[in-house]
Amino acid sequence: MNNTKISDSAFRAVIAGTGSFIPEKQLTNEDLTKMVDTNDEWITTRTGIKVRHIASDNQSTALLATEAAKKAIQSAKISPEDIEMIVTATVTPEMVFPSTACFVQEMLGAKKAWAFDISAACSGFVYGLSIAQHFVISGKYDNVLVIGAETLSKITDYKDRKSCILFGDGAGAAVIKRGNANGSRGIIYSTSGSDGAGWTALNCPAYGSRNPVSKPLENPNSVFMQINGREVYQLAVRKIIETVENCMENCNMSISDVDLFIPHQMNARIIESVAKRLELADEKVFINIDKYGNTSAASIPIALDECMQQGRIKKGDIVLLVAFGGGLTWGANVIEF
Ligand SMILES: CC(C)(COP(=O)(O)OP(=O)(O)OC[C@H]1O[C@@H](n2cnc3c(N)ncnc32)[C@H](O)[C@@H]1OP(=O)(O)O)[C@@H](O)C(=O)NCCC(=O)NCCS
Repeated sequence: MNNTKISDSAFRAVIAGTGSFIPEKQLTNEDLTKMVDTNDEWITTRTGIKVRHIASDNQSTALLATEAAKKAIQSAKISPEDIEMIVTATVTPEMVFPSTACFVQEMLGAKKAWAFDISAACSGFVYGLSIAQHFVISGKYDNVLVIGAETLSKITDYKDRKSCILFGDGAGAAVIKRGNANGSRGIIYSTSGSDGAGWTALNCPAYGSRNPVSKPLENPNSVFMQINGREVYQLAVRKIIETVENCMENCNMSISDVDLFIPHQMNARIIESVAKRLELADEKVFINIDKYGNTSAASIPIALDECMQQGRIKKGDIVLLVAFGGGLTWGANVIEF
């Protein structure tokens, strides 16, 4: 487990701008009823999802990421040349290599930046913010770009009703800027954890070194995401609550100090159950899964950008981002705006 507090640093890791990009094409619950044996009522009551967006054939992950990044850069009022590091969180990369982040760097013209991907599934963006926080509060960098981008539709089995109803495509991004100790406190605290023993609950096994592209696949379906929904559900509720409690304890806060809770959008029922057990008021819990489904690493930055656009975050607010996903991985960031 890795925990980072701002402690005595002279610098702050401030969210200077956010952006998101959602592909136009929609896949509604009604559309899914024509593909698998399901119905709107089941999907809505079990997940809260109504619509997801699907990338077109020529919309790759780097393209979605770049569009989101452009908006974040614009809202931070900097230029691409100001960015020193690009971290892209994704499980649906552009290629095996080079990294999606390198494609983004080229498309943005962010010539000064070094660029790399992280693979932490749905926790990718909160991991990315934690990495950015380290480089910024150490005084190393002034501007870091963190992106969560996914084209999950490309690894979704649209014949499997248990999984295909859940996922969508999209991208979100944030510019993390170096601030001074006398300004906003920015990212106050980050925590990240993993448990590799839980990898079987959630994975996409094909075409890594274990099941290489050079050999016929034992199970042709292993090119698609495999999930044990019920197991993930229970683990997610428990781990998200533990992670929030860890944040509150390490920040000397109580849950009533949190102004806005932005969890990974994996299932509205999971979010509601977590919120109830943490005694978080409904108006402090942000849910937009109805519009996008689960977009893995993109879900938190898309939600964060929507909250900024809607004016849900005011100066001085404490915002708590929490994620859980494949790996297993989990993490959180406590941010003062
Ligand atoms: C996937 C999820 C929505 C399933 O909800 P659930 O309440 O656990 O449902 P179950 O899997 O127990 O299935 C209940 C029944 O509904 C059926 N069912 C599954 N998918 C269905 C669908 N799309 N439409 C209609 N019925 C469906 C099942 O076959 C099962 O029927 P049975 O009892 O006759 O066998 C829920 O477990 C979940 O959201 N899990 C976490 C999701 C996840 O892993 N996300 C990725 C990680 S971030």
